[in-house]
Amino acid sequence: MIQSKQTVLITGGGSGIGLALAQKFLENNNTVIITGRNFSKLEKVKKENPKIHIYQSDVTNDAEVRMLAEDIQQKFDGLDVLINNAGIMNLVDTGTESNDLQKQMEEIEINYNSPIRVLHYFLPLLKKSNNAVLVNVSSGLAYVPFAQAPVYSGTKSALHFWTLGIRPQLKPHGIKVIELLPPVVDTPLAHGADIAEDDNLKPMPPKKLADVFWKDYITGKEEITPGISKALKVMGRLAPKFIFKQLNKQAIPNK
Ligand SMILES: NC(=O)c1ccc[n+]([C@@H]2O[C@H](COP(=O)([O-])OP(=O)(O)OC[C@H]3O[C@@H](n4cnc5c(N)ncnc54)[C@H](OP(=O)(O)O)[C@@H]3O)[C@@H](O)[C@H]2O)c1
Repeated sequence: MIQSKQTVLITGGGSGIGLALAQKFLENNNTVIITGRNFSKLEKVKKENPKIHIYQSDVTNDAEVRMLAEDIQQKFDGLDVLINNAGIMNLVDTGTESNDLQKQMEEIEINYNSPIRVLHYFLPLLKKSNNAVLVNVSSGLAYVPFAQAPVYSGTKSALHFWTLGIRPQLKPHGIKVIELLPPVVDTPLAHGADIAEDDNLKPMPPKKLADVFWKDYITGKEEITPGISKALKVMGRLAPKFIFKQLNKQAIPNK
């Protein structure tokens, strides 16, 4: 895998895993572009990482993603690495009628529909690259569902299956497809969902996740399973009921 002088786009790169990956690609002399909805957050990242390029762009907005692709083609003369990282996680109690339906639909839109949308608009750019890579950031929960976040788990397993399906389809076009399935990582997403406080799940620092990712990425590994995600993959196949019970001692979220 080519490690430097690539143009890399990371959706949702203004915090957490996306930002740690952005810094890793920057360290290795790549041109890095990050997106997000909150522009002041991106400006703060730009101040601390002057070489990074920032775009306010919502992955759920068709016109914004299309314009982003046009702009990147013009300003950067193409794209080599697309990282579908933007995502949210909601804890949901499905047995409660007062559930926010809109929030659940938004979660599907961001986590599953948007990687499909972003790839659609960037496909022509990737096809022109000699070293094209698509990285989809799903989750270890793609292997074993987390009951407190049922919609999230569904979107991540859907993203996992989509990734498996498109890998052989994109191969003849010279696009390598990689999936990163993180464990619990110490980010705003994990804190918002209260899971970073669970002693059994021991959140991984984002920088460590980026180090593990990079080690596997440069060897061209297709499915990257840091920390507990590797065990979730194996146990999800060997003892699915057991591992489901272990992960879901409390099915209803506290908040
Ligand atoms: N942390 C974990 O434990 C964990 C575990 C497994 C997988 N993951 C996955 O890793 C990815 C990154 O999550 P993270 O933990 O690093 O959380 P995070 O720090 O909250 O990062 C998510 C980023 O996505 C951006 N985003 C959300 N909705 C967006 C939209 N509609 N358009 C553009 N950007 C959007 C957010 O920025 P704005 O709000 O400014 O848009 C934010 O910077 C997600 O796909 C998540 O599911 C995380």
